[in-house]
Amino acid sequence: MSKKGKVKVGIIGSGFIADIHADSFRMMPDEAEVVAVASPPEYKPEELAKKYNIARVFTDYKKMLAEDDIEMVLIGAPNYLHAQMTVDIANAGKHVVCEKPLCMTLEEADLMIDTCKKKGVLLMYAEELFFTPKYVKAKQMADEGAFGKLYMVKQSEKHFGPHAPWFWDVEKSGGGVFMDMGCHGIAFCYWFFGRPKIKNVYCQMATHVHGDKTKGEDDSICIIEFENGGIGLIEDSWARRGGMEDRIEVYGEDGLTYADLHMGNALPTFSEHGYGYAVEKAPSTKGWTYPVVEELWNYGFPQELNHFARCVRGKEEPQATGEDGRVVQEVLYAAYQSAGIGRKVELPFRPEGVKTPIELWLKGKNKS
Ligand SMILES: NC(=O)c1ccc[n+]([C@@H]2O[C@H](COP(=O)([O-])OP(=O)(O)OC[C@H]3O[C@@H](n4cnc5c(N)ncnc54)[C@H](O)[C@@H]3O)[C@@H](O)[C@H]2O)c1
Repeated sequence: MSKKGKVKVGIIGSGFIADIHADSFRMMPDEAEVVAVASPPEYKPEELAKKYNIARVFTDYKKMLAEDDIEMVLIGAPNYLHAQMTVDIANAGKHVVCEKPLCMTLEEADLMIDTCKKKGVLLMYAEELFFTPKYVKAKQMADEGAFGKLYMVKQSEKHFGPHAPWFWDVEKSGGGVFMDMGCHGIAFCYWFFGRPKIKNVYCQMATHVHGDKTKGEDDSICIIEFENGGIGLIEDSWARRGGMEDRIEVYGEDGLTYADLHMGNALPTFSEHGYGYAVEKAPSTKGWTYPVVEELWNYGFPQELNHFARCVRGKEEPQATGEDGRVVQEVLYAAYQSAGIGRKVELPFRPEGVKTPIELWLKGKNKS
């Protein structure tokens, strides 16, 4: 396996995030190059390969893992496949970049972390909010003392629901909007406060508008209490009309900052006719819209993947790891349990025999 030059990357998946991964390496090509993509034939991996000039195409990811020169493999497949894929990648001796959420269960998280350790490969957790330029700036200012002692960090992400059917099927996704996007907010607040211990979690969930297509929640509010006294407030929705929103608010005893990922980079625009593309999840390009510039860069994807490639070469230490993903997983459990019983849940919280985090909510909901 080559240890010099650009890191050779294989991508599993040819859907939404796989396209972002491929595009991100195109934008920051110095450290890595995508040499292969693998995805079942019905998802047309050859189209992604053509779009980004990827030389090798596989319809079975295990065949891609047999390629000697590939050093790092990105998992851009549905959540229920993450654990098995991670184990297979690690057993093939390759470094893993796993999309969020890390997996479905805490047992899977442990298995993923242990297998990668045993095989001596990195398990990097693709939480791009740790690399989002505006959010990184907010954290730098906080770490420099700009806001004094922090008492609340809020992150929210909202739109009108995901693009692919598997997200709505809780057996494949593990849960609704909180599993899908709350995992970003949990990771963000934990990271922003400097990874303190988590004391307890309180969460409220509901299915307001998408009950016809999912058992999952389409709206959630979660409060995390950290041992340092800080509060994380996480709001997520698949019920919000009007396109994508991703925002933070940071409050300290001596100051505050707000950031909105889309507004501020966007061009307030009115069009009778519409145009090609505005921003992720925008329902229309007619009327008033807010097209963003440099969308992937503003999210932090190219910076994240460039960093992971540098970690493979030993130039940097991973800033987002399987252990971070495991913390998120435990909070996901606690939040679904809390929403089910209507009370705070203290950590550590490790119920056994859980197959999907959302069942902890559904059980409580069905009792009441
Ligand atoms: N970091 C982020 O902000 C972000 C954004 C979107 C998605 N994601 C995550 O990325 C993952 C994929 O989501 P997506 O939006 O790209 O979904 P998607 O439905 O657009 O694409 C999923 C792809 O997985 C592949 N796939 C499906 N079944 C497979 C199988 N049995 N074996 C191998 N490959 C298979 C296919 O190529 C499919 O196109 C999810 O875990 C999701 O949570 C992360």
